Amino acid sequence: VPWFPRILQDLDRFANQILSYGSELDSDHPGFTDPIYRARRKEFADIAYNYRHGQPIPRVEYTEEEKKTWGTVFRELKTLYPTHACHEHNHVFPLLEEYCGYREDNVPQLEDVSKFLQSCTGFRLRPVAGLLSSRDFLAGLAFRVFHSTQYIRHSSKPMYTPEPDICHELLGHVPLFADPNFAQFSQEIGLASLGAPDEFIEKLATVYWFTVEFGLCKQDDEIKAYGAGLLSSFGELQYCLTDKPELQIFEPEKTALQKYPITEFQPLYYVAESFEDAKEKVRRFSATIPRPFSVHYSPYTQSIEILNNVQKLKNLSDSITSEMGTLCNALRKLE
Ligand SMILES: [Fe+2]
Repeated sequence: VPWFPRILQDLDRFANQILSYGSELDSDHPGFTDPIYRARRKEFADIAYNYRHGQPIPRVEYTEEEKKTWGTVFRELKTLYPTHACHEHNHVFPLLEEYCGYREDNVPQLEDVSKFLQSCTGFRLRPVAGLLSSRDFLAGLAFRVFHSTQYIRHSSKPMYTPEPDICHELLGHVPLFADPNFAQFSQEIGLASLGAPDEFIEKLATVYWFTVEFGLCKQDDEIKAYGAGLLSSFGELQYCLTDKPELQIFEPEKTALQKYPITEFQPLYYVAESFEDAKEKVRRFSATIPRPFSVHYSPYTQSIEILNNVQKLKNLSDSITSEMGTLCNALRKLE
């Protein structure tokens, strides 16, 4: 079996092999010449680097300046959500305000948010210092683990960040991971990546880009945003629903080959019929990935099983039979 995480602890090994150590900023980063910001980034990087699976995510006391930056982003974006965000995002957002401290004057703690997500869909957050490789990041999704940054963008440009930050994660990604259908859709992409050849990892990362990051979907004859890159960008959230960008129907085979810019608004978005539909399409696409085995995630052991012998297939079949029994029983009672 090629490179392959089977249990959650494996993510400890892989997630810490980060490409950028977090405090290393590019010369065009708004915080590049700010020594205080760079030192702060190092603190966040250390939390992520020392984190091990199962530990609570360390709480962070955000500074007044950081809270002000968060407040600006939070306030502005919240005005757009009712008209621009998908139903799922608008359904979950008030719950995050009620249970996770989503407020203009408070940066929510990853630990609280992670617990909330676990209670909704089993998804959990794991702190990360910077960008992971696509393979490592997608592998996390297979376990319903989302790698999340904890630092915030530089205060000089509250409406801009050249990289994911906590505003992007908490306002863009988190609400959707609380939705069962979307959570399963995300996990499908992750499961497809396990043991896939490098060229398919790139294709799956592109599918991820055009769905989880920049996806649009149809809802009640309208088009709404569900991608986190849109839901965390005041400018692009407005722009994506104008007639300027090109829209195409989401088809993983085609979407996976699409080139895209990373430093400007997207010229093209893919529109999903629904998460259910997108999930089915990704599942069919995944079946075309050449790998000599199938995988299955066991929520009981929170591990990945490779379905490569008769006994394992029988175990899975028994478990599905038992679930079907429960479903039939419940249907009879509803009648
Ligand atoms: Fe993201």
